[in-house]
Amino acid sequence: MWWKHAVIYEIYPRSFQDSNGDGIGDLNGITQRLDYLKDLGVDAIWITPMYPSPQVDFGYDIADYTAIDPQYGTMADFDRLMKEAKARDLRVIMDFVPNHTSDKHPWFIESSSSRTNSKRDWYIWRDGKGPGQPPNNWQSWFGHSAWKFDPRTGQFYYHHFYTEQPDLNWRNPEVRKAMYQVMRFWLDRGVAGFRLDAVSRLFEDPNLHDDPLLPGANAYGDQNIEHKYTDNLAEVHEVLKEMRQLVDQYPGDPVLISETDEPNIAELTKLYGSKLDEIQLPMDFQVADVNQLSAARFRELIDQVENNSAGGQPYFFFNNHDQDRTWDRYGDGVHNEAIARLLATLLLTTRATPQLYYGEEIGMLTTPPARKEDVRDPIGKLGWPKEKGRDGERTPMQWDASENAGFTTSLTPWLPVPASYKQRNVAVEEKDPDSLLSFYKQLIRLRRAQPALRDGAQITVNCHDADLLSFVRKNPNNSESVLIVLNMSNKSKTVAFNLEPQGITGVSAKLLLSYPAPGATNVPLYAIALAPFGTMVASVK
Ligand code: GLC
Repeated sequence: MWWKHAVIYEIYPRSFQDSNGDGIGDLNGITQRLDYLKDLGVDAIWITPMYPSPQVDFGYDIADYTAIDPQYGTMADFDRLMKEAKARDLRVIMDFVPNHTSDKHPWFIESSSSRTNSKRDWYIWRDGKGPGQPPNNWQSWFGHSAWKFDPRTGQFYYHHFYTEQPDLNWRNPEVRKAMYQVMRFWLDRGVAGFRLDAVSRLFEDPNLHDDPLLPGANAYGDQNIEHKYTDNLAEVHEVLKEMRQLVDQYPGDPVLISETDEPNIAELTKLYGSKLDEIQLPMDFQVADVNQLSAARFRELIDQVENNSAGGQPYFFFNNHDQDRTWDRYGDGVHNEAIARLLATLLLTTRATPQLYYGEEIGMLTTPPARKEDVRDPIGKLGWPKEKGRDGERTPMQWDASENAGFTTSLTPWLPVPASYKQRNVAVEEKDPDSLLSFYKQLIRLRRAQPALRDGAQITVNCHDADLLSFVRKNPNNSESVLIVLNMSNKSKTVAFNLEPQGITGVSAKLLLSYPAPGATNVPLYAIALAPFGTMVASVK
């Protein structure tokens, strides 16, 4: 179960490293940076889609599941990346997009060619309610009706996301067979598993019930609805079981990570499967999106995960390619440096498998386009200015202080490099022992070195404290445990701990890592002082 102890790093290939000067990142660029990733301490990379695609949704609209988009390289480049990653003991996780294809995928081109085509039933085609009227009120996640009329055959097709992303019909056994072949194709090439895109959306109500209306309107001006009949249908679990059985046939314990934005722990828990026979690592969006430094809320969520009877392995992250970076969601503008370290500590000291997103380790900021005409992500065009799209969190990786941050030699990277790159970049931060990057490295090393952080139980302590989130990782062999204290307030705090109920009788704690840097290395447990948004990781016995 390597994935239980792994640190996973998400790479948006378009923005990571350009190796051929066209302004777009590529596979050889990733290969070139593997030493950096190894040094950072990660165990696996998840690469977002680099398959041939018209790039409407920047790769999530796939036109061929078993090839590499020439923008990103060739299959030989991919194989070289795999080989070089393996040589460094780094695993590669693919992004698998089962819910929909591109409208340029040959399957959809066939399907839309006539009502009697053999692939017609590979997608969701329905008659309208009346002339010019969609079959029902279902909405696309990206705005407006989820149905698009195709005049050629006089029917509508369903698309949960962009109109260029028609949904596959997972009730059709041929679709399942074809998609499982895709998974085998990549497993045969040695990948360590898949991140399953939007997998809770695989099925829709066959009776086409209208979704319930909710008050208010979204950024696109549509009436809000509850996506009740297009998300989380019970049949999803059948497919997850089949996918798990498939990956389990391969050596090396391949992993399934699900992008499933579940509203509560009960729904999240179902994803493991009743016999732990579905997803090994369902992403926990509740933790990612607390969006305020609330000790009480984080404690509640961590406890829920801990008491989760399914016994599956949690998976935490704060950043990804779909939402503003944490710096902007959690920062207060004054203590951002401390807050970045606090979140890094939370991410890297709990029992959950942690996932980083490229650039978070150097403190990259969300940098949305300033003008509508500069927006690349279509939802930003449709929802401007309320919804500026996701370009802001996809800007090029900031490697050094040279022009375009060492990302590309082109004068026009696909998205502009944020002005912050001069100070915030890998080269500068690597040299500074107090940088955020150095802090991440130390945390990852600690996570590996301390048996309690690796295998210890997780117990929240001082549970009525409104400002501090504190928890113990208890050493399984009764020796050194680890106490983590995070001050989620803007006040200096001094706090006392009695850890006897946890079997810890020592009266002092030995600092392993803290921010700001401490004056002493040993602190008495009856008076631990933390600066505003201060962080402390210490060993206790
Ligand atoms: C997932 C991806 C997102 C994409 C969508 C449609 O949510 O993370 O980037 O736009 O699926 O594929």
